[in-house]
Amino acid sequence: MRLLRDPILLVHAAAQPCPELQAALKARYAVSSCPLEKLSPDAAGKRSLLVVDAPLNLEHQAQKLRKALAQLTNRLVRRVFVVEENNRVLAVRANACGAEAVLPRPLTRDALYRTIDRVLHDPVTDTRDAGGAGLKAGVSALEDILHFATSGFELTQDELYTHGDEIIEAIAEIGLSEWAELVKRHHSRTFRHSLLVTGVAVGFGQLLGVGHLDLRRLALGSLLHDVGKAEIPVGILEKPGSLTPEETEAMRHHPGLGRAILQRKGGFSAEMIDVVAHHHEMLDGSGYPDKLMANQITDLVRAVTISDIFAALIEERAYKSRLSATEAYDLMCGMTGKLDPVLLREFAHVIMRTPLAV
Ligand SMILES: [Fe+2]
Ligand SMILES: [Fe+2]
Repeated sequence: MRLLRDPILLVHAAAQPCPELQAALKARYAVSSCPLEKLSPDAAGKRSLLVVDAPLNLEHQAQKLRKALAQLTNRLVRRVFVVEENNRVLAVRANACGAEAVLPRPLTRDALYRTIDRVLHDPVTDTRDAGGAGLKAGVSALEDILHFATSGFELTQDELYTHGDEIIEAIAEIGLSEWAELVKRHHSRTFRHSLLVTGVAVGFGQLLGVGHLDLRRLALGSLLHDVGKAEIPVGILEKPGSLTPEETEAMRHHPGLGRAILQRKGGFSAEMIDVVAHHHEMLDGSGYPDKLMANQITDLVRAVTISDIFAALIEERAYKSRLSATEAYDLMCGMTGKLDPVLLREFAHVIMRTPLAV
């Protein structure tokens, strides 16, 4: 067995680290441990990976952990969480704390090593350049949105605008192709999708020459558009194969669930609620959930819908081969009567000027 010398920090909430977990880690990696209360930027240092072993059964435990991890200056240090059982709520809470992988107990050494090796050998994003900084802002925004949707965590539209501005800057500097390349590095398909939609929508807006306020509306609408997926089981969201008819039906509830989340929580504008609720509506009334017709669908929603469909078509999924940008555009042009024809014509510039190789 190869002994990997990557420095790993085992962060434990209990007074002592779990002996079984510590022994399993030590058998393969260079590991030290640190109680959660003593976690600091210095303790985390230049570690490649944190293995976090802390209870997440109660919301306040998740809040405490999130706070402890948020103080780390290197927010991109990879994180693997060990949780008490295979349970979706625990996985969502762990993801909201930045987990790249969640390992439920009972734990096997095999699963532990496989997961840690995969996370350690993923390319790490460099945040020193505009693209990395933009990606970090996008991931933070999506983590905050997920946390907000699933807990009492508070989030304002203004906080999200700040993240959106960094993404706008990044797309202006590196372009859409490079953004799409960066986004591929994120481990969650749901995150990759929202980051790509945001990049496409912002890139589209920049090519149309819209002003900064409209770019912000596009960025925020795209970051939020699938917020309702927070209430869809992770097993459906991240399913490697194609969905059954029942699972597809469950997925179709996400715009309505998203609208309910934003309305329940308050603080988001009617325009953003509209994007979340209606990004699957089609101009000919064939969309869902409200079967809106053309004049009931705003320009912002129309632009996010085009970006959403394009992103979904060019994304790689285990069960479908991705389309090239041109193939995706051709397919969208064949959706007669469904998408805004003027915007779709302009969208051709996104294809021409950014030959995406996603
Ligand atoms: Fe959606
Ligand atoms: Fe989407």
